[in-house]
Amino acid sequence: LYRTQAQASTASFLLLGPSGAGKTSLLTLLERGSTSATHTSQTPSSAEITLPSTIKSASNEYRSENDSSFSGAQRFILTDTPGHGKLRQFASDKLDAKTLKGIIFVVDAANLSKESGGRAEEGLTEAAEYLHDVLLALQKRYTSAKTSKGPKELPVLIAANKFDLFTALPEKLVKTELEKEITNVRNTKSKGLLDSGIGTSDDAVEEEKEWLGDGGEGKFEFRQMEEVNVFVDVIGGNVTGADGPGVGKWWEWIAKQI
Ligand code: GTP
Ligand code: MG
Repeated sequence: LYRTQAQASTASFLLLGPSGAGKTSLLTLLERGSTSATHTSQTPSSAEITLPSTIKSASNEYRSENDSSFSGAQRFILTDTPGHGKLRQFASDKLDAKTLKGIIFVVDAANLSKESGGRAEEGLTEAAEYLHDVLLALQKRYTSAKTSKGPKELPVLIAANKFDLFTALPEKLVKTELEKEITNVRNTKSKGLLDSGIGTSDDAVEEEKEWLGDGGEGKFEFRQMEEVNVFVDVIGGNVTGADGPGVGKWWEWIAKQI
């Protein structure tokens, strides 16, 4: 029974992340095996992708190819979205899809460092603001669920892209810098609300659900999202360039979810 259900609806994944992070490049590579020049995206676009035969999905792990129940090539739908701030509403519609198995949030790991100053600092803030909003949407999806069990778990891969560049931050730093900056984003938002007088009175209790992670106190950590069935992994890789780990670990992450 489980298997027939799985086949009836193809697994899907959503590519989110700021403009220029490499979402369209990644979709192209996974779909065709090679990249080509990209333009900034203005509309979402989906492709059907086949898992490489060398990587077994979780549901096929214990079956041999001689097994008659082996379902052959594993396919999934990957949807690319525009990263530009004004076009992001396309993306939020899709978080409720029943087939959604995970979210791949792509960031440019070479554009996140506070130390390098200038553009990189904006890059970190932009990525953190967008990620904050995505995680808050997922948290609301859980807290507003009708059943006491809440929605099924939803994994989020933070794909730290451009690891071919020597300026790319290592995975650990990508994680801690984003956590720190998301904490700042949250503090800025709560201060804005306090200054405007909202959230100081009876509304405060109602507003509590609106803060990301652990009621909005202290430092934000991705781990806090586990309480609302959202599991975050940070994995480095690169779509272009000869050096770097490539996309192998991202394939494996996808395979684990289907
Ligand atoms: P929007 O459509 O504006 O949201 O951006 P996007 O996330 O789709 O970015 P896109 O795939 O268009 O890539 C932006 C630029 O980053 C392109 O010039 C890519 O060639 C480059 N790029 C993508 N992946 C990598 C990578 O792994 N390493 C390096 N060095 N450049 C990359
Ligand atoms: Mg794009």
